[in-house]
Amino acid sequence: MTDIRNIVVLTGAGISAESGIDTFRDAGGLWEQHRVEDVATPEGFAKDPDLVLGFYDMRREALTKVEPNDAHQALARLEREFSGELLIVTQNVDDLHERGGADNVLHMHGELKSALCTSCGTRSAWDAPMLNRPACPVCQAPTLRPDVVWFGEMPYQMERIYAALRSADLFVSIGTSGAVYPAAGFVRDAREMGAATLELNLERSEGSYWFHESRQGKASELVPEWVDEVLGD
Ligand code: APR
Repeated sequence: MTDIRNIVVLTGAGISAESGIDTFRDAGGLWEQHRVEDVATPEGFAKDPDLVLGFYDMRREALTKVEPNDAHQALARLEREFSGELLIVTQNVDDLHERGGADNVLHMHGELKSALCTSCGTRSAWDAPMLNRPACPVCQAPTLRPDVVWFGEMPYQMERIYAALRSADLFVSIGTSGAVYPAAGFVRDAREMGAATLELNLERSEGSYWFHESRQGKASELVPEWVDEVLGD
């Protein structure tokens, strides 16, 4: 892997599964416990804000009980030791990449530990509940919502992501089912622009067909192995 100068990594819920955070579409996952339209859409929030604020309060609280796993730590090592460019794009709203030591993480679906004020538009670092309608740190209005991208909303920093995909010579997808766009289309964008593409996932995903190589297994095993390959260890 010596000719690799520019890597884009996309992660999904599968990279956090072994840390104890539920994925969405595996058996028993979040979308079996809750209806997406009730808790992950602007319409659901308008209809029952308490249900939605409580759902994200529960997920934010759960972060205090989990730790990053070997996959998060391996990506942080890659970020530290790889001599080329690396961008970690995550669909996850947890903070395990950062707690695993990664600094340059792009949360395209937002973050549990960020609050968006629907009055003044400010984003603030946040790790408390929202159900009790706390005041926005800037405008003081009791109008904070989770700074998470719901279905029907535009993911964050898409231009930056596409620019990175255009210059990537390797695109690696880790722990995602390839069920949700635009993330599910990144492999095709990268491939069309000449990148090599690799999938690391527990099972073949909906997008496996598009990858030059697809490896099945646990992220905590596959990711450290792959990072060793890239760093030439
Ligand atoms: N190691 C590697 N992969 C795993 C592991 C593991 N230990 N456990 C599960 N997986 C894989 C599953 O096989 C599945 O393909 O992780 C994937 C998880 O898929 P989803 O639950 O669909 O999660 P994700 O792909 O991140 O969902 C994308 O959908 O609901 C929206 O906004 C939400 O960001 C989320 C998006």
